[in-house]
Amino acid sequence: MSVAVESLRVNVRPMRPADVVRVEEIEKATYPFPWSLGIFRDCLQTGYICRVLDTSGGLAGYAVVSVAESEAHILNLCIVPERRQQQLGAAFLQHLLEELAELRVERVILEVRPSNTAAQRLYGRAGFTQLGVRRGYYPAEIGREDALVLARSLPVDLA
Ligand SMILES: CC(C)(COP(=O)(O)OP(=O)(O)OC[C@H]1O[C@@H](n2cnc3c(N)ncnc32)[C@H](O)[C@@H]1OP(=O)(O)O)[C@@H](O)C(=O)NCCC(=O)NCCS
Repeated sequence: MSVAVESLRVNVRPMRPADVVRVEEIEKATYPFPWSLGIFRDCLQTGYICRVLDTSGGLAGYAVVSVAESEAHILNLCIVPERRQQQLGAAFLQHLLEELAELRVERVILEVRPSNTAAQRLYGRAGFTQLGVRRGYYPAEIGREDALVLARSLPVDLA
């Protein structure tokens, strides 16, 4: 499972239990309300699609996706802070969409904070459009923050 990003070759592989400590470090460096080690372990045990972006420079990102019937939900997708804006997120997302299409997923949804312009740009470039708003979805410093719900359909292989 490898994709070319400019001249860099990166490898997308299943997340392993041994990755979870590093994943949680990146998570803590990224989100004000990070997932815990236990949540990542539960995601692995539950059988969610958990992937990491492995590069010669170390683990550069991770993603967690749940799939129910023909719909997938991207629950988390993160690139390590010092390696952002190098097209790694776009390449990782493209890889995930191809993997989901192979699983015959027909629709992919996700939530994003209205303040998260980087993620909105990433997903917009990948063909996601806004489906709606979930009121008070995210915890915030004061109260809760809404989420934009984004979605895109995937081509279905009828062969
Ligand atoms: C969102 C995220 C995954 C993007 O990863 P990335 O590797 O930096 O993104 P890329 O370099 O592949 O860029 C993809 C597109 O987003 C744009 N983009 C990336 N970061 C941006 C920023 N900070 N501001 C504006 N646009 C940005 C890029 O310009 C690019 O668009 P373009 O092709 O039109 O130039 C990364 O910022 C991240 O991990 N953020 C924290 C976690 C998060 O918010 N995850 C998403 C919610 S599930």
